[in-house]
Amino acid sequence: MIENVLTGWDGALCSSRYDRETGAFFTVAVHSRRRGPAAGGTRAMHYASHEDAVADATRLASAMTLKMAAADLPMGGGKSVIALPAPRHEIDDDLWQRILQVHAENLSALNGTYWTGPDVGTTSADMDLLHGRSGFAFGRSVDAGGPGSSAPSTAQGVYVAMRTAAAEAGMNDLAGRRVLVQGLGAVGMDVLELATKDGADVVAADLDEDRCRRARDLGAAIVRPEEVLDVESDVYAPCAMGGVIDVDVARRIRTSVVAGAANNVLVDPAAGEELARRGVVYAPDFIANGGGAIHLVGREVLGWSPAEVASHVDGIAATLSEVFERARTARLSPDRAAHDLAQSRLDRPAA
Ligand code: NAI
Ligand code: PHE
Repeated sequence: MIENVLTGWDGALCSSRYDRETGAFFTVAVHSRRRGPAAGGTRAMHYASHEDAVADATRLASAMTLKMAAADLPMGGGKSVIALPAPRHEIDDDLWQRILQVHAENLSALNGTYWTGPDVGTTSADMDLLHGRSGFAFGRSVDAGGPGSSAPSTAQGVYVAMRTAAAEAGMNDLAGRRVLVQGLGAVGMDVLELATKDGADVVAADLDEDRCRRARDLGAAIVRPEEVLDVESDVYAPCAMGGVIDVDVARRIRTSVVAGAANNVLVDPAAGEELARRGVVYAPDFIANGGGAIHLVGREVLGWSPAEVASHVDGIAATLSEVFERARTARLSPDRAAHDLAQSRLDRPAA
C-alpha cells in the first residue's frame, strides 16, 4: 500500500497524479529543502505497481538530499518518477511529448519547490521541453542554452571513486585489474572507456545487444546480465538500476571494491555492514555518483565554468577518502560513515 511507503518515509512532500489521457502515473517526492530548493532527476519507466513507483521516488529523493549535502551543493533532495503505461521503448514520440507536457504542469504547480533534471528514461532534449514550459529543469541541451548531459561528469566521478576505493583496497591503480561494469547506458559506457584507457581488463553486461556490441568493440568481454553477480572482479561498478546488493549478495559477491553510478545500490544498511565485514571496499553511491549533480548545479546555479566543474568532480576523491578515514576510526561501514558525513553537512546548511 502507498500509505505504508509514506508512513515509513521522513520526506517533506510526496504528490502523485494519474493522467487518464496518457495512462501515466506521476510522483514528485520532495525529501528536504534544508540546503535549498529540492532537486533530482525525472525517471521514466514501467513499474509493476503504482506503489513501487512511489517507493522508488521517495527513496531516490532521500538519496538526492544526501548527495547534495555530501557534495556541499546548495540544494535539497527531490525526485520525480513517471510510471509509464508500457516500457519506455514502446512509448511512441507523440505519447511521450504529451506525457512530458503533463509533467511540465506538475513542475509549474510546484513553482520552484522542486527542480528536475535527466535520469533513467529522460534526456537533455526532454529537459528542453520541460524547462521551456515550466522554467524548473536543469540539464537542457547545449543548443538550447543548457550545460548538456550530466552523464560524462557522473562517469568521471565514478572513475575517480573507483580509483580511490581501489587504493583503499590496496591496489596501486586499475591497470591489469578486472573491472566489471553492469549497465552500458549514458554513464556506464563512459565508465567502461575510462577504465579501459587505464589498462583495466573490462567485463561488461547490458540488456541491450547494440550496447554490448559497442562495448565489445571497445575491448570489453561481455557476460549475460543474469551472470553479473557470479563474475569474479577486482572492481564491480553497478551502473544500471539500484537495489542490486542485499545481505545475501554482499555475503557472496567476489570482488574487492564496489563503486558505480546506480542510485540506491544497497537494499538496506545491513548489506553495507556485510560488505565491510568481508573487507569489500564500498564507495557509497551518493558520493561516487555525485558528478552529475555537481555538473548541473555547478553550471546552472553556481555559475561554474566546465573547468571548475571538473575540479569539483575530482574532489569526489577527497570526500571519499574522508569517508574511509571516518569509517576506519569510528569502526563503521563506509555507508554508515557517508551518511554521518552527509548529515553533518545537512546540519550546517549551505550559506
Ligand atoms: P541509462 O538509462 O542511460 O542506462 C542504464 C543502462 O542499464 C541501459 O543501457 C540498460 O539497458 C541497462 N540495464 C538495465 N537493467 C540492466 C540489468 N539488469 N543488467 C544490465 N544492464 C541493465 O541510465 P544512466 O544515465 O547511464 O544511469 C545509470 C544509473 O546511474 C541509474 O541508476 C541512474 O539513476 C544513476 N545515475 C545517473 C546519473 C546521470 O548523470 N545520468 C547521475 C547519478 C546517478
Ligand atoms: N539524475 C541524476 C542524479 O541522480 C542527475 C541529476 C542531479 C538530476 C541533480 C537533477 C538534479 O544525480
